[in-house]
Amino acid sequence: EEQSIAQVVSDHLRDIPDFPEPGVAFKDFTPLLSDGAALAAVVRDIADRYRGRVDHIVGIEARGFILGAAVAYELGIGFVPVRKAGKLPGETLGVEYDLEYGSAHIEVHADAFVAGAHVLVIDDVLATGGTAEATCTLLERAGAEVVAFEAVIELGFLEGRAKLAGREVHTILTV
Ligand code: PRP
Repeated sequence: EEQSIAQVVSDHLRDIPDFPEPGVAFKDFTPLLSDGAALAAVVRDIADRYRGRVDHIVGIEARGFILGAAVAYELGIGFVPVRKAGKLPGETLGVEYDLEYGSAHIEVHADAFVAGAHVLVIDDVLATGGTAEATCTLLERAGAEVVAFEAVIELGFLEGRAKLAGREVHTILTV
């Protein structure tokens, strides 16, 4: 019997208690990455939603790099990294955004896109949505058109989707 892709993800996730801090149960998807059939199924599922619609995949550091590069390869298109501040070597555009405590700063190469390039943004988890929304804003400032945001896991109780109102958002498994 064929399993739904959400079930495949669910079967290859584990909760790590008290990571990265006490009281937080971290959704670890390394079991999904280490299983070849499961990884291929997820990559194909994502790629099939956007075939012919995007020019580049944008991956968000760090786990978005792994999935994003695989989806880009599957679609035969290029990959662009969005990184934490200070990591990209060329001229960058950056954006700062609020975290629950403190703030974060992410960057993209200023010349990564020709104007109007269609991009799909990929990450592992949609949590509060701060990272995803900041990334979309940053990419638009860099001249790209954001077609959609895709994540494997959505932490529904954090309501990150609300921050992305008006955007196409798809996640495979909501927990
Ligand atoms: C995690 C996750 C997303 C982001 C989601 O990354 O991979 O990028 O947080 O959170 P948000 O929706 O509340 O913004 P993390 O900050 O752990 O960085 P890392 O992947 O480099 O470890």
